[in-house]
Amino acid sequence: MEHSLIILLFTVLVLLTTTPGTLSQPSPAVAPTPPGPTNVTKILEKAGQFTVFIRLLKSTGVANQLYGQLKNSDNGITIFAPSDSSFSGLKAGTLNSLTDEQQVELIQFHVIPSYVSSSNFQTISNPLRTQAGDSADGHFPLNVTTSGNTVNITTGVTNTTVSGNVYSDGQLAVYQVDKVLLPQQVFDPRPPAPAPAPSVSKSKKKKEDSDSSGDDTPADASFASRNVGSLRDAVSFCFMSALLGWFYL
Ligand SMILES: *[C@@H]1O[C@H](CO)[C@@H](O)[C@H](O)[C@H]1NC(C)=O
Ligand SMILES: *[C@@H]1O[C@H](CO)[C@@H](O)[C@H](O)[C@H]1NC(C)=O
Ligand SMILES: *[C@@H]1O[C@H](CO)[C@@H](O)[C@H](O)[C@H]1NC(C)=O
Ligand SMILES: *[C@@H]1O[C@H](CO)[C@@H](O)[C@H](O)[C@H]1NC(C)=O
Repeated sequence: MEHSLIILLFTVLVLLTTTPGTLSQPSPAVAPTPPGPTNVTKILEKAGQFTVFIRLLKSTGVANQLYGQLKNSDNGITIFAPSDSSFSGLKAGTLNSLTDEQQVELIQFHVIPSYVSSSNFQTISNPLRTQAGDSADGHFPLNVTTSGNTVNITTGVTNTTVSGNVYSDGQLAVYQVDKVLLPQQVFDPRPPAPAPAPSVSKSKKKKEDSDSSGDDTPADASFASRNVGSLRDAVSFCFMSALLGWFYL
């Protein structure tokens, strides 16, 4: 009697402790996994002449975001990579004058969250939505116009041309641009659009930009680990209860 109880408890414990593991394993039926997601920084390193952009991709954390997106999404990614000489073309101090958030936005502005092949540029509709968010005028619009093989880009602040294909594999496309693409929201801020809300004092002083909106950073990683954490808590709770139960028997 007592033995079978202990065996029962043990079985329950084993079940409890192994279930989360089996839950979080991807089902093996999900087809052969391709050889790891593409590493954008590696591709840019190989191409050379993108050292500043690589440094910013890393320091802003966008490199890791891209790695996760390429791993978890089928939409693909398109990157307009400014060459080192395009960064030297910026007014001195431009990068240093940006807040951390603006640096993230600047780098995300060079990323389209879908795969765009060079022939897609002819038919794509403007404005393109970048990873920086809102593509409305005054925020983060990015327009593309083509004629023949020429692809022009305008942000409303910067005009430039795609000057080379760096990489393309059907999921990731990297194009070289010879100017840093400056977004309007950071480099040509507009007075906030007349709000529909009837604010009583439309004082001219109300210039504080309430437009720091481009913060739609995916947070799946931390979400997942939080879930694992709570599962673990539940398991240890069950374990303690079982132990207590066992002592009282
Ligand atoms: C991608 O490649 C770079 C440089 O080769 C390396 O430093 C980095 O750790 C790699 N990232 C991942 C997630 O493998
Ligand atoms: C692209 O830009 C170049 C240089 O600014 C300009 O001469 C050309 O007309 C533009 N082409 C298109 C299709 O916008
Ligand atoms: C981009 O194109 C859209 C649609 O043609 C237009 O409304 C918008 O003003 C353009 N923006 C810029 C910055 O050129
Ligand atoms: C960009 O090109 C547009 C249209 O071709 C022109 O109106 C605008 O002045 C140019 N802007 C800059 C910053 O060169």
